[in-house]
Amino acid sequence: MTTASVLGSGDEPIALDSAVSLVAPAAPVRVPTQRRYLMCRPTHFTVRYAINPWMDPSQPVDTERAVAQWTELRDTYERLGHTVELIDPQPDLPDMVFAANAGTVIGGRVLGARFRSTERAPEAEFYRRWFVEHGYRDVIMPTRTNEAEGDLVWTGTVLLAGTGFRTDPAAHAEAQEALGVPVISLQLVDPRYYHLDVALFVLDDRAARPLVAYYPEAFSPGSRRVLQRLFPDAVIATEADAACLGLNAVSDGHHVVLPVEATNLAAQLADRGFDPIPVDISEIRKSGGGPKCCTMELRD
Ligand code: ARG
Repeated sequence: MTTASVLGSGDEPIALDSAVSLVAPAAPVRVPTQRRYLMCRPTHFTVRYAINPWMDPSQPVDTERAVAQWTELRDTYERLGHTVELIDPQPDLPDMVFAANAGTVIGGRVLGARFRSTERAPEAEFYRRWFVEHGYRDVIMPTRTNEAEGDLVWTGTVLLAGTGFRTDPAAHAEAQEALGVPVISLQLVDPRYYHLDVALFVLDDRAARPLVAYYPEAFSPGSRRVLQRLFPDAVIATEADAACLGLNAVSDGHHVVLPVEATNLAAQLADRGFDPIPVDISEIRKSGGGPKCCTMELRD
């Protein structure tokens, strides 16, 4: 073993092999796994009602631009080797593009959605039919308000479940029973982060210890303590990362598809060995959504 020496505080050089390493530890190797997603082309996308603070019906929305951004997102997944399934968009359901809100699939079991707003309510039945027509046997529809992956985030070991704005806390118990997974409830407190999936995402759901990124200020003090306890090494997002919906990201364990504006988050992810893949979702963000909202994961 070679012994380099550096100057210590006194006159004597100290041996490097007995001192703290001066070289930063290498980031762990992040292994991607192939995913299957369900998406809905934003053919009828617009903002004509306001059910979250991002939505302003008086502002123009360019549907063609939204379709182009969505198409780029879908193509990105396919370039990364993932499979994208499609559901037909319906006229009069402008938010149907947000597939993540319409079902939670874990181990082939499906828990459908029950939307809080009357405007979105009919989406649930179109998605339910898609599951049935695509061979899913175990499809359960919730009796309580449940906005699916908008508020239910699978870490690989537990289901994190948001409440405060949309999903009813009673839906958390229903999810635990229907999906057979342990559920941990988290309280959201900032209306801009009305769904859990705009405040937190999972970077690695296959690791022994799941890794997440989140924005602490979106959570109540008690929920923040829960998150610290569960994920002491989490990536902590800044206000600017959260405010461009940077946490509405999709990771395959190596590549992280996220809004292009979330530059600090992207740098932190790169430091941790992930490969950030920025996408432009500016038009879709006018409805309060980002890459993850457009993407339901089919965990068969
Ligand atoms: N306009 C939609 C709503 O307010 C946006 C949903 C975004 N989806 C999500 N998974 N956060 O319901």
